Amino acid sequence: MIKHSIRDMSLEDSGTKKIKWAYNNMPVLREIEKEFIKEKPFNGIKIAVSVHVEAKTACLVQLLRKGGANVALTGCNPLSTQDDVAAALVADGVSVFCWYNATKSEYRNHLIQTIDFEPDIVIDDGGDLAELFHTTHKNKLTNIIGGCEETTTGVHRLKILENENKLLYPVIAVNDARCKHLFDNRYGTGQSTLAAIMSTTNLLIAGKTVVVAGYGMCGKGIAMRAKALGARVVITEIDPIKAAEALMEGIEVMTMNQAASCGDFFITVTGCRDVITSEHYAKMKDGAILSNAGHFDVEVNIPELEKLSVKKEEKRDNIMGYQMPDGRWINILAEGRLVNLAAGDGHPVEIMDMSFALQALSARYILENGKNLKPGVYDIPKELDDRVGLLLLMSKSIEIDTLTSEQKFYINHWEI
Ligand code: NAI
Repeated sequence: MIKHSIRDMSLEDSGTKKIKWAYNNMPVLREIEKEFIKEKPFNGIKIAVSVHVEAKTACLVQLLRKGGANVALTGCNPLSTQDDVAAALVADGVSVFCWYNATKSEYRNHLIQTIDFEPDIVIDDGGDLAELFHTTHKNKLTNIIGGCEETTTGVHRLKILENENKLLYPVIAVNDARCKHLFDNRYGTGQSTLAAIMSTTNLLIAGKTVVVAGYGMCGKGIAMRAKALGARVVITEIDPIKAAEALMEGIEVMTMNQAASCGDFFITVTGCRDVITSEHYAKMKDGAILSNAGHFDVEVNIPELEKLSVKKEEKRDNIMGYQMPDGRWINILAEGRLVNLAAGDGHPVEIMDMSFALQALSARYILENGKNLKPGVYDIPKELDDRVGLLLLMSKSIEIDTLTSEQKFYINHWEI
């Protein structure tokens, strides 16, 4: 009998349907699956996964199992678990520890139950498993060979550990692969964030002012999609070059203080904290809608909003309204957590096909090379990154040119 801790086993059928739909739209994973089934690279290996528990993640888990791995799965955000997907995975024999809307302590317990498994490999999204391994649960590191990290914030946290000489195992920064951040962060976050905001609010984007805080990979995608929907887009940044880049794209650049009074929608996606605070709430329009797409729920300072407000009212599912003393309402979507996952279905399937192909190949790379790597944060090998790009093109029957030997010589020599 496998161990698990989920909300409701009776949701299995709905989860199974979602997983099948995702699987049928993930040609890159299906290609890698053929190789994993034949070679069983993970035979006898335990993998702990902490990633948003939804259908695409289930396909990654199944791929690793087809490769021979024993997998334990938990979420990486208390509001992003889909309970039906968790039930379908348990029915299929996976140890799953998570449920939607977990309290802080339930969420932590789920992480702990996952590492009690004493994994050989860790797949993290945001670095919460890594945090336990480096603090209270070092004793669970007995088997560890290495890990893979999915997102910008997680890579950032691991690099801080590395710089302080405290990192205890090698980790592949999957986020930094070209096939990850150029697609997942940009097109994935762009489409899914706008889709979640639109379906949660049922409001029009065209003609509105959308303020995007952070013009990194995710912010560019969100700004691009908001603009395409007819919004006036405003960017706030701290990096002068990113701000200049936004300007060249025809996007207005302001401080948050200036933008606060003109935004209809605000979307934070910086990986930083306190991007929207009391001084901004004071200037916002009645009915302003705030959401966050950055990894942690600290970008919009909700405790400060709670303090300022005189009344709090649920306006719709996933929309909490806060009334200011002067009567204005400020609305927060999905408690300020990743809006595209907490109030939506996450990235489009094809995007996660690429991101999770990189995860699967990176896990195999760590298995085969981790023992020879010192603790550190490593880039994914270029061949694996290129392979995922090629598999995607192949799945669409698209061919590209290759260099001739004369061209290779030309680009590798300084004389013309
Ligand atoms: P990035 O590093 O490419 O971009 C972040 C941008 O925010 C940078 O340009 C930086 O200068 C700017 N910034 C930092 N502090 C700021 C502040 N106080 N005010 C204004 N701008 C500020 O990072 P990326 O890849 O765009 O990721 C951003 C966040 O989104 C991270 O937390 C990441 O983990 C998360 N993420 C979320 C996804 C989702 O599905 N919602 C998907 C991928 C990443």
